[in-house]
Amino acid sequence: MKILILPDPAAAVARCVEIIAQTLNEKPQAVLGLATGGTMEPVYARLVERARAGEVAVDRMTSFNLDEYVGLPPEHSQSYHSYMRERLFGPLGLDPSRTHLPRGDAPDPAAEAARYDAAIAQAGGIDLQLLGIGGNGHIGFNEPSSSLASPTRVKTLTRATREANARFFGPDETVPRFAITMGIATILRSRHAVLLATGTKKATAVAAMAEGPLGARCPASALQMHPRATIVLDAEAAADLELRQYYETAHPEGQEVTLG
Ligand code: F6R
Repeated sequence: MKILILPDPAAAVARCVEIIAQTLNEKPQAVLGLATGGTMEPVYARLVERARAGEVAVDRMTSFNLDEYVGLPPEHSQSYHSYMRERLFGPLGLDPSRTHLPRGDAPDPAAEAARYDAAIAQAGGIDLQLLGIGGNGHIGFNEPSSSLASPTRVKTLTRATREANARFFGPDETVPRFAITMGIATILRSRHAVLLATGTKKATAVAAMAEGPLGARCPASALQMHPRATIVLDAEAAADLELRQYYETAHPEGQEVTLG
């Protein structure tokens, strides 16, 4: 794992977007795996800014999102389809045929999950998988106890996740109980996994992911098995890391160090 620690959330977001931009500029037809949630909002805002400034090539990329709530049609205001349309796909003017999310309203969610994994494989696999992390250590919606070899499938959301996400729903709406999520095995097959975490609420999960035992108690710990995982943190999210000094020596200010 490469652990990059930046002084504040804005610097961590900018570093994360820099990695995405580099990937797209090196390979404009790259396949990106995308995440939703509060952490990703400033990432997409900055990516849109940089694309509008002509600093990053986005027209030929393809994307696959991590997850979608079971039962929500694409046009529902709290669906991840809507989230992505409003924050990224619309502002970038992306061709909808290049952007993919699981269909939460599919009549057979299990079949939809299998179809989704097959579509990712058919697209050549994911070049860069963007990830956030739940306070309980989930990535995608792989909640604690998820198989570390899981394919894309339907997962039951924990009460903690539903409570954390209730802030996006209206007072009269209930957070769905199930989601279709890329599995841990799907995420591990990506060629580069980039996880962004900011804020004190993520510090415990981040330490468990990077320095705790590998195990289903903290699904994000599976990234310890990823051949190329980059973890981008702000100082607050990095606060519980025991080996913090080492990470800061290896990557001062979260930057690459040239050898020699
Ligand atoms: C959503 C997803 C989730 C979030 C995680 C953190 O697509 O993959 O794993 O990344 O729940 O959410 P925020 O950023 O809202 O704290």
